[in-house]
Formats: sequence, structure tokens, C-alpha cells
Amino acid sequence: MSSILRRGRRLRSTNAMRSLVRENSVSKDDLIYPMFVTEYSDSSEISSMPGVIRHSLRDISTAVENAANAGISAIMLFGIPLQKNPLGTEAYSSDGIVPKAIRLIKKAVGDSVLVIPDVCLCEYTSHGHCGIVENGKVLNDPTLELLARAAVCYVEAGADMIAPSDMMDGRIAYIRSELDSNCMQDTPIMAYSAKYASGFYGPFREAADSTPQFGDRRSYQMDSPNRREALREMSLDIEEGADIIMVKPGLPYLDILRDARERFDIPLAVYNVSGEYSMVKAAALNGWIDENRVVDEILVSFKRAGADLILTYHALEWANRKQSN
Ligand code: PBG
Repeated sequence: MSSILRRGRRLRSTNAMRSLVRENSVSKDDLIYPMFVTEYSDSSEISSMPGVIRHSLRDISTAVENAANAGISAIMLFGIPLQKNPLGTEAYSSDGIVPKAIRLIKKAVGDSVLVIPDVCLCEYTSHGHCGIVENGKVLNDPTLELLARAAVCYVEAGADMIAPSDMMDGRIAYIRSELDSNCMQDTPIMAYSAKYASGFYGPFREAADSTPQFGDRRSYQMDSPNRREALREMSLDIEEGADIIMVKPGLPYLDILRDARERFDIPLAVYNVSGEYSMVKAAALNGWIDENRVVDEILVSFKRAGADLILTYHALEWANRKQSN
């Protein structure tokens, strides 16, 4: 007889046994699927993000219906305008690509899918920065008004929630107060609170054609070695009125997600960003990893670290796969 005190393997013996003691799981209800809509007339696949499409206005609502049929109940929306200019005016025009798309999507799916537009200027500015630029600097306070205009205009078009991703200081309070004074006090804000300056956004910038034309985003997005600063950013956003806070990117910042879970009790989201997606796809296409296993493992790592909600480009394929299981 051996004298092993604890036998962990007893509870790992069969699938049924493992399911019984499993601590975390991912549900379709936790997923937000990021989608791109373009003002150009044709849809096209994003070459660095296999399986992710820039949808034209012609097919965006069908694409959202397909996601709904797979069981996705929330999408994040990014717009790609035909025209960019220094003030990013297409971001806050009621005739811009995002409001147009929201109206079409809402007509098709009604309340069954939440439409959450990303609020930022970088897809719309010719210089590719997230705010107004003067003498090579990204100006904070003058940018707030434009972001708030975009938010109001998206909610007018039918957005269910808005998600500011610009990282300007004070934007949550500013946007909240503008929404409230436009009788939009019931629309929640999901704040990209701890958003790090990251190389993992590379494929997104190709997708949205939003690479900064000079410099980088380090004067407004967070410096990756910092941990306490993330908690300060998140508490500030909560004080300013955020309903949901977010950590972004996901995998390289799981520690921040865990810290946030322990500190805050409001819903916590994580963004599994474009570069994280592309790395998995590239390795899978080369036959180097088993994509399904790896995606399952990545998604549950977010839940284990403490996330309530997961923004991921894997959402559609994952949901389809779970449906057919
Ligand atoms: C806009 C925005 C970006 C992402 C989400 N919103 C790009 C950036 O900040 O450069 C990145 C999403 C991704 O990489 O999947 N500010």
C-alpha cells in the first residue's frame, strides 16, 4: 500500500468526473463579437485576420443575423469610412458609416443582438491618432467633445451601449454627461479602461487602416510594465460613471484582469485583440497547433482570471462549433 496522502487523479478519471468538478466555463452569453463595417462597396477578408471580414453595408445585417443564429447576442462595431480628415468628422456624422450600419442592423435583428459601437477617432482621422492633433501633439480636452458627439450620434441611431476606446483623460465623465443631457441616461458605457499601448493591435490597424502616420499611441495608451496604474485607470472610470470596465489586450495582461476582479465588483470585460487572434490562426494554418483546443483554452483562461465578458474574433467560429457539439 502506498502512502500517498492526496490523489488528485481521482477527480480527473473520466470526462463526466472532470465536468463535475470543473470550476470555470465559457458561455455564448459572455461573448461579444467584434465586427467591421466599411463604406467601400465590397466586403473583403482582412488578410492578416483569416476569417474576419470587412463587411459592406450591403451584407452587414446578414452577417449579424448569422452571428445571432449561432447564438451570439452582442457585437462590437468598428467603422471604416471612405474619407478621412484631420478632425475625423465621419466619426460623428449622423450619416457616417457606423450610424448607417446600426440602423440597418437594428432593423434586421431588433433587440436580439446588442450593438455596441467602439467610440474613437483613429479610424476616421487622416493622421490615424485617437484625438485631435496640434503641433504634433494629441490634444485631450478638445477631443472629448468630438467623442461625445460620436457617442450621442450612435445612440440616436439605435446603439445599445457605447464603448470609448480612445484613452483620453476624463472621457467617461464627459460622455456620460452628454448622453444624460440628450435623454440617453439609460444607455450603458463600457470603458476601455486599462488599455495598453500594444504591438498586438497590428492586424486591427491593417483592418481599419488606422496606423498613426507619425509617432505612436504611447502618450495616451498605457505603458505595458505598469500594474498599479491600471487599477487607478479603472477606479477613475468607475467614478466617472462606467458601467463595465475593460482590460485590453487579454492574454499578456491576465494578471491585470485578476487584479481588477479582486478590486472591483462591476462587470469586467477583456479584449482578446487582433494580434492574439492572428497568432493562433497563423499557427493553426501551419498545422502547428490544434486551433479548437487552443481557442477553448484561451477563452477559459479569461474566465479563470476573472472576466465576465470576452471580446473575441473567435466568437463566431466558437459559437458555431458549440452549436454542432
Ligand atoms: C481604436 C481601437 C483599437 C482597437 C480597438 N479599438 C486600435 C488601437 O487602439 O490602436 C484594437 C482592437 C484589436 O487589436 O483587435 N482605438
